[in-house]
Amino acid sequence: MTSANGNDMNKDILLGVMGDPIAQSKSPLMHGAALKALGIPGAYVPLHIAPDQLSQALSAIRTLGFRGVNVTIPHKVAVMEYLDKLDESAVAVGAVNTIVNDNGILTGFNTDGIGYVRSLKAEAAPDLSGARILVIGAGGAARGIVTALLQENPSAVLIANRTADKAKELAEACRGKEKASGIGMNEIGEHIGGMDIVINTTSVGMYPHIDETPIDPGLLPAGIIVSDLIYNPLRTRLLSESLKRGCRIHGGLGMFVYQGAYALEYWTGRTAPVDIMRQTILDCLGGSAE
Ligand code: ATR
Repeated sequence: MTSANGNDMNKDILLGVMGDPIAQSKSPLMHGAALKALGIPGAYVPLHIAPDQLSQALSAIRTLGFRGVNVTIPHKVAVMEYLDKLDESAVAVGAVNTIVNDNGILTGFNTDGIGYVRSLKAEAAPDLSGARILVIGAGGAARGIVTALLQENPSAVLIANRTADKAKELAEACRGKEKASGIGMNEIGEHIGGMDIVINTTSVGMYPHIDETPIDPGLLPAGIIVSDLIYNPLRTRLLSESLKRGCRIHGGLGMFVYQGAYALEYWTGRTAPVDIMRQTILDCLGGSAE
């Protein structure tokens, strides 16, 4: 039997994640649970690939008949030159986190930004149109998030970064840039009062530096939504301080789940079992759903 895309459906589906390091990745656990829940025979394996092995690893994906892989640090940009096609999502972000193999033709996608926005809408802010959004950080993660946010018709996306020039460059590089602008972190106090949503895209506050916050929580107005991409810890110090100040909070676990859900949907054509995927990670991290 062959699927609509011509792949052999009698074989077990082979999936994986390429990174360096990779042992810490929770993707194999999450996707393993998802495949089991869907009754799809196959495996999702961690692939430890050093930067100088990337080209060979991509050839091996074709040779071994992997249906697809996720790509993580440090390969998200470097992998692009070895692919046959790039989806618009990957072009817009300038990075790939998901590869689909259609009989040897490798296509790169980026599901990080859309995964984040699906999570934000499902868990905190169903309608982003007209929202005024402050994004903290201007690195690779911010690029994907800002790109996806601008597709939701917000009224403004303000990017604040320690290095102000990088925030301005990111705003300038985005489609829909008339709504995006960049400032230095030191200017946040002048703008935060007009915001509906504040999103941390930096790694400040991630385990083991759990006492750090990317901005002074004293600046946060009550009633706004504060969102953090970090999911380890599930509740960062930024989020616990925000809660104390009367803000609504949104953690990073949903982004991880939904970026994986989109990838799984591209590989299998099936609807991803997001609740099972989320619970698998929660069980592993020893947390509870909020
Ligand atoms: P990622 O792909 O995870 O976004 P990155 O591209 O290295 O990683 O970007 C990291 C982001 O976090 C940057 O915006 C960085 O600010 P600078 O551009 O000024 O370096 C921000 N960042 C990292 N550590 C930070 C810190 N201690 N304080 C403030 N911002 C920090």
